[in-house]
Amino acid sequence: MKERITALRKEVDDFRITGADELEHFRIAYLSKKGEISTLFEGFRNVPPGEKKETGQLLNELKQFATDKYSDFRERLTMAESEPSGIDLTMPAYPFGEGTRHPISIVRNEIIDIFSRIGFTVSEGPEIEDDNHVFTMLNFASDHPARDMQDTFYIEKKSGSESDPHDVLLRTHTSSVQVRVMETQQPPIRTISPGRVFRNEAVSARAHCIFHQVEGLYISENVSFADLKQTLLYFAVELFGENVSIRLRPSFFPFTEPSAEMDISCNICDGKGCNVCKGTGWLELLGCGMVDPNVLEACGIDSVKYSGYAFGMGIERAAMLKYGINDLRLYFENDVRFIDQFRTEIL
Ligand code: PHE
Repeated sequence: MKERITALRKEVDDFRITGADELEHFRIAYLSKKGEISTLFEGFRNVPPGEKKETGQLLNELKQFATDKYSDFRERLTMAESEPSGIDLTMPAYPFGEGTRHPISIVRNEIIDIFSRIGFTVSEGPEIEDDNHVFTMLNFASDHPARDMQDTFYIEKKSGSESDPHDVLLRTHTSSVQVRVMETQQPPIRTISPGRVFRNEAVSARAHCIFHQVEGLYISENVSFADLKQTLLYFAVELFGENVSIRLRPSFFPFTEPSAEMDISCNICDGKGCNVCKGTGWLELLGCGMVDPNVLEACGIDSVKYSGYAFGMGIERAAMLKYGINDLRLYFENDVRFIDQFRTEIL
């Protein structure tokens, strides 16, 4: 009996199965009721008692071996049947050139990340806006030069050359998104608005008619200029590294009072003065200030109870300072020799 088991095991092992027909032959030959293994089990009755234990074990092992072989192959066969024919999954793949993120996307995502860590949410709004949200509610005087055709792309002028809150135009800054947030939410408000903006400027190394901004707004009780400065310092250190210094210079914006512009220390000469910072040691990065009470009131927010700060920057500018890019036009040309240099960046 033992020899028969050993011989059968070898036979089962050697049995070549390459398709469904052979698999069925295998099953009938070994595993069916009339198959070889069942026959051996029937003969087990006649094995002398002293050999029963060892023979029984060998017999069970043989049955397990044949069953495993059968189910393994059946599984492979059903898998192969569900694959579309003509595809060889063992072929090596074509080399696949992964794209890179555009430096503007990298820096935008990084700025969003930095502000979300301190509780700012992201708001978005329309690129085609009305005069009301871009200028009037932000306290721009009706004769402010930004409202001039020379500076703003108008889509529809409602009343000749006069500025009209219903005029339709391409937003010149994403402060318009913040107006929309203030119109619909009460403080505390803590939000940033990234997006594309449009200005009627001749394209040069330093200016473009389309660019990207991130503007920020925080409104709550007792918000002070010190809060603004501390937030901006945190931001600059996160984006440019811990060696950066900031300075605020007095400035003017219709929607903030007081207003300031923020410079960062020149990261090329470490503040000593070079031709990038024109010998000053400082590079201008963003505009900021305390939200003018007129703006809060126009949006239905109590300016006695609440105060807030706002800031806004060009992403192209931030990326120029971060990577030492010297021509704004590079961002829009999509030359892979430029874009490819940002391959190692993850965000
Ligand atoms: N909106 C201004 C701009 O586009 C930037 C800014 C935002 C300045 C908020 C002060 C406060 O230039």
